[in-house]
Amino acid sequence: MNWGPHYFMFIFHNQDAENTAILVLFLVTSLDMVVKNTNQLEEATDSTYDREAEVKAFDDSKAGVKGLVESGVSKIPRIFHTGKLDITENSAGDESNLSVPTIDLKDIHNNPALCVEVIDKIRSACHEWGFFQVVNHGIPVTVLNEMIDGIRMFHEQDADVRKEFYTRDLQKKVMYYSNGTLFSGQAANWRDTFGFRVAPDPFKPEELPPICRDIVIEYLQKITDLGFTIFELLSEALGLDPSYLKELNCAEGLYIQGHYYPPCPEPELTMGATKHTDTGFMTLVLQDQLGGLQILHEDKWVNVPPVHGALVVNMGDLLQLITNDRFVSVYHRVLSQNIGPRISVASFFVNSPDSIKGASKVYGPIKELLSEENPPIYKDITIKDFFAHFFAKGLDGNSSLEPFKL
Ligand code: OGA
Ligand code: NI
Repeated sequence: MNWGPHYFMFIFHNQDAENTAILVLFLVTSLDMVVKNTNQLEEATDSTYDREAEVKAFDDSKAGVKGLVESGVSKIPRIFHTGKLDITENSAGDESNLSVPTIDLKDIHNNPALCVEVIDKIRSACHEWGFFQVVNHGIPVTVLNEMIDGIRMFHEQDADVRKEFYTRDLQKKVMYYSNGTLFSGQAANWRDTFGFRVAPDPFKPEELPPICRDIVIEYLQKITDLGFTIFELLSEALGLDPSYLKELNCAEGLYIQGHYYPPCPEPELTMGATKHTDTGFMTLVLQDQLGGLQILHEDKWVNVPPVHGALVVNMGDLLQLITNDRFVSVYHRVLSQNIGPRISVASFFVNSPDSIKGASKVYGPIKELLSEENPPIYKDITIKDFFAHFFAKGLDGNSSLEPFKL
């Protein structure tokens, strides 16, 4: 694995608890796995290619991948090359009858029999897929559409305007950047991100640009409420009291990332988002109609097709740990495409490792879920340990839960 010196510095300066939450904001989707790179040898011996300089020039532009597209590139810079990558490898194909479950939440609050049925569906989706989509979740489609538009408009502002927000300063609560792990030595992704911290200790409204301020504030209120509702359903699906996961502080921290995947002139050479799992408890993803999100299910890449008005729900590593593998955190990725832009908004629910209390809170398999037939698979760990291991192990392609197995 190719660790650039910048990356080491980055980690070393950020081991302390206060910075961890912000790191989560930055890295929560960045558990990028090593992709087989058959060009690596060739690249290493090619003296005309100075990767570090190319990375730095790209970052210094502060205009993101969108800036490259605006400058009219017809070939993607080498820092984005994933190497030989066959995106159809292991593909389930469209003819496959494998499909991520879609669950209708209509009337669950006033029809107890229906609610039981929904909870059963959620239980099996979380166990077999780690992913499902929800419809009739209570957030109006107009709000979803306006949020996608707001994020699109942010990224499509004049480069000089969005540059003002471009930063890798982890103390900032509102950040515009391209590739959280740009300096890691790995292939960069064909996407830019506008991210903000919602809880705890949220950004101030005036820190957001007027172009998307109102809709972001409306969306974050609604997504927070929906997150609480889904944690209640997940708790019940585990046979626990509805408030159980919330009382474990699983929804204490919330980070939102508005991704922008520009059209890519050479989509066969790079990814929109490299294969990864999400590190927190749960993620809610709003995607537009372009598609490209895939999950690894039974060793095959299965599309998560856009469903109008739906939100995608997926389990994170920490939820897999506390549910002792009843719910699974599954690899997923986003393909780059010739068409675009594609916009998505990912809302990550985690405990807050920011406060001393949050960082030292112990998580392990939930006692009520254990028995003689179901002994604990994982150790009890603190959030601080979890992220310390995550950084220490590096991007080695193994599950971030591996070090915590008993
Ligand atoms: C993520 C992620 C999927 C998407 O941000 O972690 O997996 O569709 N996003 O953008
Ligand atoms: Ni993800």
